[in-house]
Amino acid sequence: MSDATPMNPGPIKPRPITVPIVRERKAGPKLTMVTAYDHPSASIASDAGIDIILVGDSVANAVHGFEKTLSVTVDMMIMHSAAVERAKPLSLIVVDMPWMSYHVSDEEAVRNAGRLIREGGASAVKLEGGANRVATIERILAAEIPVMGHLGLTPQSVNAMGGYKVQGKAIEDAQQMIADARALEAAGVFSIVLEGVPDVLAAAITEAVDVPTIGIGAGDATDGQVLVFHDVLGLGGGRYPKFVRSYADLRAGAIEALERYAADVQSGAYPSEAETYHVRDEVARMLADGGALSDRTQSSSSPSS
Ligand code: KIV
Repeated sequence: MSDATPMNPGPIKPRPITVPIVRERKAGPKLTMVTAYDHPSASIASDAGIDIILVGDSVANAVHGFEKTLSVTVDMMIMHSAAVERAKPLSLIVVDMPWMSYHVSDEEAVRNAGRLIREGGASAVKLEGGANRVATIERILAAEIPVMGHLGLTPQSVNAMGGYKVQGKAIEDAQQMIADARALEAAGVFSIVLEGVPDVLAAAITEAVDVPTIGIGAGDATDGQVLVFHDVLGLGGGRYPKFVRSYADLRAGAIEALERYAADVQSGAYPSEAETYHVRDEVARMLADGGALSDRTQSSSSPSS
């Protein structure tokens, strides 16, 4: 039984993060967001007090081994988002609308966003693009689905951009991105991811809009930061982009642990007595003598009399 009384309500339960809470964080403290694509990573992110879990379409690269995010489908995003939701994280769950799920028509975009919320259990969707996406965003918002914007190096445009390149380096491109951010804000997005943009441009956009900006490879002036789960924890092999800071080397730790497991299996050190199930001594003796086996074989094969 709890000791809580009206005068002493007991320990304060941590509050789940909601879309209005994220909006208020324009005033600080800075927002933290990481990707998560499954139950254990969502539970870890939530327990670490991360504000927002992004079920990102980077699942294509980080988990499925695809080269581009263009390979993921709505059904894949629903499966990953639902696994995240089952962890019941306190973090806000935002799910990426994959490529071609909002490009064909606004009707299809609303239907797909609805599936990501209803079947995927997310609280909001994210989609890439600026002024060119405003009409679609307005339709999704009209269905009461909160939308996060995404500007700069938008990986779904990799073919149009000619590769993964920092965006907004020329003054006209930078001005266009500021206009895009204002258009997204006017449409009603609750926050905007800025990916792969120079720090001064990210600072200018952060200044220009009243919704929080969340940067990745966008310097330190944004209202929050986002990184891919596997990058922060050092789970991926190979080289990371310049903006990534890994706070652990879990890949090395995992390899070392699996090597020790394999060595223990081979030496017989695993499993030990304590890791083994046992039966009563008399049953063990019968089994060791082969008695139990022959009795059972006889009774099942001999005709009943
Ligand atoms: O899918 C993803 O991981 C993203 C982040 C890079 C923002 O969209």
